[in-house]
Amino acid sequence: PDDHDADNIGEEHRLRHRYIDLRRPKMQKILALRHKITQFTRNFFAANDFLEIETPLLITPTPEGARDFIVPSRHQAGQWYALPQSPQIFKQILMVAGCDKYMQICKCLRDEDPRADRQAEFTQIDLEMSFVDQDDVISIMSEFASTLFKEVGSIDLGDLPQLSWKDAMDEYGSDRPDTRFDLTLKDVTELASKTEFKVFTEACQSGGSVKAMRVPKGAEQLSRKKTDALAEVAKTYGAGGLPVVKYQDGEFVTGVAKFVEPIKDELIDALSLEDGDIVMFGVGSYRVACTALGEVRLAVARELDLIPSGLFRGLWVVDFPMFDWNEDAKRWVSEHHPFTAPLESHIDILESDPGNCLSSGYDLVINGAEVAGGSIRIHSPEVQATVFGLLGLSEEETQDKFGFLLNALKFGAPPHGGVAFGLDRLVMMMIGTDNIRDVIAFPK
Ligand code: AMO
Repeated sequence: PDDHDADNIGEEHRLRHRYIDLRRPKMQKILALRHKITQFTRNFFAANDFLEIETPLLITPTPEGARDFIVPSRHQAGQWYALPQSPQIFKQILMVAGCDKYMQICKCLRDEDPRADRQAEFTQIDLEMSFVDQDDVISIMSEFASTLFKEVGSIDLGDLPQLSWKDAMDEYGSDRPDTRFDLTLKDVTELASKTEFKVFTEACQSGGSVKAMRVPKGAEQLSRKKTDALAEVAKTYGAGGLPVVKYQDGEFVTGVAKFVEPIKDELIDALSLEDGDIVMFGVGSYRVACTALGEVRLAVARELDLIPSGLFRGLWVVDFPMFDWNEDAKRWVSEHHPFTAPLESHIDILESDPGNCLSSGYDLVINGAEVAGGSIRIHSPEVQATVFGLLGLSEEETQDKFGFLLNALKFGAPPHGGVAFGLDRLVMMMIGTDNIRDVIAFPK
């Protein structure tokens, strides 16, 4: 069958007859590309003195924030193993064990709902290094990513700059910003508090935020029907709706025009508005206001075709918060995972002000997708115990679940850190598909 025929065939049908589907030149090309990526990866890291070491599949749970898959034990009736969400704890123990640099191309299993770029069973390029700081890890991993894309995919990633989590949220409304197009968000909370618009004023009074996004020349392009559809996007991400206002012939018209009239000049100034623009507002708690408008930003870019095809833009997001407050559970949860170290300069506020404590976590984001995540790890047993405590684990639970790790850290653990790349996502990106099932020979 040629590729053209297959475009009209439903995916279920293709998957049922995968052996025929895989015969297509397009699918053979993907299998070959995936092979080239793993070969390149092994060669690159071997040349940089990383040892490939396998870690077990039947384990006690390693928390990465998802649910575990469970395997009952026949030998010990009533007991079970978990399948690894990642080899995180093993690779850290390998560092304590004197293995200076580790790599593994490994399966990870997380009982989570599938999405376009996510499967319950996926593959990581997993890496860990001893006696390194954040810049060391980011530097070698940037070199890996840039050369991989260039040599295997003939893709120029350009520079991979660093952007703080706060700036990413402030400007792009996302911790994985797509920087291929220019739309950015501005904080207008103070201005919004001067209006009589209840949606704005209530958010301001309750310590929330109002963010605004100017879409140049958007007034004509984005009809009422389209802005209504964008409001649905905002609602999906927790906002009550999407207030909009158009700026035409020197006047604010439609939407919330009458409410923003009192701040007209200041708003025009703050957003550098020009005739024919449309302004959209994200309103809610800081995270909701940013995220909802950030998702609208992506939807607008798709609607108005603002993303140049063939362009690749990557960056490292750094300085994540250590924790996010979970209102339902009434406790802190890790923004990365519980083994991520606080920034050295923030260690003092870990206990006294956990909400403002920043971590040494970092994510590599390419074209708005998180392709890798990692951190410098905690290598002090005392700090690790403090973090478990902040996450709501009792001393007994900590000993029971992580006693072996805390013990290992007492035996001369080197400072260490690492990262894991999502292999499936790298292949997706290079081949240019949004469907993770396209890049796995036998997907779920
Ligand atoms: P994390 O959970 O961020 O980190 O995973 C690392 C990378 O793996 C990819 N990924 C996935 N790909 C497909 N399907 C999934 N369900 C899925 N989940 C994650 C992403 C992500 O960036 N142990 C840490 C790494 C570390 O700290 O070194 C970890 O697993 O591309």
